Amino acid sequence: MKVKTVFVCQSCGVISPKWSGKCSSCQAWNTLVEERQVVQSSSSVEKTSGRGLIKSSGSKAPIVLQDVGVERINRHITTDDELNRVLGGGIVPGSVVLFGGEPGIGKSTLLLQVALQMEGQKVLYVSGEESAEQIKMRAERILPGKGAHCYLLTETRTETIIQQADALQPNLLIIDSIQTLEMGAMESAPGSVSQVRESAAALVRWAKENHTAVFMIGHITKEGSLAGPKVLEHMVDTVLQFEGDRHMAYRLLRTTKNRFGSTSELGIYEMEGEGLRKVANPSEMLITQRDTDLSGFTIGVMLEGNRPLLLEVQALVSTATYGTPQRSTNGMDGRRLQMLLAVLEKRAGFRLGQQDVFLNMAGGLRVEDPAIDLAVCAALISSYTDVPISPNTAFAAEIGLGGELRAVNKIEARVAEAAKLGYKEIFISGHQKVAIRGKYSIKIHYATRLAEIFPLLFAE
Ligand code: TYD
Ligand code: MG
Repeated sequence: MKVKTVFVCQSCGVISPKWSGKCSSCQAWNTLVEERQVVQSSSSVEKTSGRGLIKSSGSKAPIVLQDVGVERINRHITTDDELNRVLGGGIVPGSVVLFGGEPGIGKSTLLLQVALQMEGQKVLYVSGEESAEQIKMRAERILPGKGAHCYLLTETRTETIIQQADALQPNLLIIDSIQTLEMGAMESAPGSVSQVRESAAALVRWAKENHTAVFMIGHITKEGSLAGPKVLEHMVDTVLQFEGDRHMAYRLLRTTKNRFGSTSELGIYEMEGEGLRKVANPSEMLITQRDTDLSGFTIGVMLEGNRPLLLEVQALVSTATYGTPQRSTNGMDGRRLQMLLAVLEKRAGFRLGQQDVFLNMAGGLRVEDPAIDLAVCAALISSYTDVPISPNTAFAAEIGLGGELRAVNKIEARVAEAAKLGYKEIFISGHQKVAIRGKYSIKIHYATRLAEIFPLLFAE
């Protein structure tokens, strides 16, 4: 055996023989870290020919797809409906779930809460970050007096964790967090991509061999990717992300990958003094209480996963006092805002070039659904003209470069949600007339051009 020094990108895991400032694969800067790799000398590597492989004892012959028997997956349905739904209907035994989120968002709280609620099942909670006392204190906050079925282990050596898990045979193993683990056999530092990858691989193997579900918490870097573990994402069955604004109570749980269900489900929680609570009416949470006569506020209907959600858009447009006008957005892509401003100027005749523009999505949410465009444009013009828009009006349409209102998906579900919440009017694209089949207690305005809606909105 020989030890070789290599440089491993901590973001994508690519290995290169030389150090450089920028990763040649994922283009990230300053992510290459020196690690030592054990290389097997060529004499000790067994030479296997194709035929040799077939003869080897562990190999399996191919089977006809039709003959594969499928056991019905016996999922463990937790008492947490949001988690069940996001996982595709409960925890699948033997599955490995990577649970990512920024520090302080509530990952440990949520998984401890799930562990405490799994009465009648054995849960092993491994923490490499906190002491058993700290975890106990948190457990007392969340569900006092529960936890006879929960075992704690404060350990960072992967080999020891697996030994203990073998001995205990829990129904669920929780690792908090994968970045704190180290494999004794390796020379790289804990938290480095090789350590994380090897530890995760060992845990995945353990999960499959023991038919036991494993949840691994992973921290997300400032840039928003799972630290290092792009490499982990393809090793695990499910990737969950926990997000939200740390200073606000709302937390969103979404899947970015799921081998056992759809990735379009979303769970919504609220962080309270006693742990995380399911939000009963998510559409109401993103709308602040406001005076009816405030300009620059509109309601957009966006889609999160399969759920329509109503969200308040807040805009402030005011004449720039110094030099270059400012454009600042919170919760929406800045370039998208620039594009909408250009469309408003060119296609609807509003002179916004010398205006400072501030845009904010309520609730600390990041919106990627283009259906929010129309609500954004209406909020901008409402602020610019200082004419308020009725709080009973909602919007759902994408805006094209020609200033046209474009169709958006699931329009009927969006209209239904707005109607259900008591909105009186909704503006959507004229191309979607055929898509609305039901009868709703909401007045639907169809428009094909952006310029058409302003006379309707601001007519006294
Ligand atoms: P934590 O689960 O430690 O976050 P993570 O594991 O993602 O780093 O949660 C951190 C925050 O949650 C912390 O600021 C305290 C807050 N919190 C509550 O508001 N209520 C609670 O019941 C608990 C346990 C935590
Ligand atoms: Mg934690």
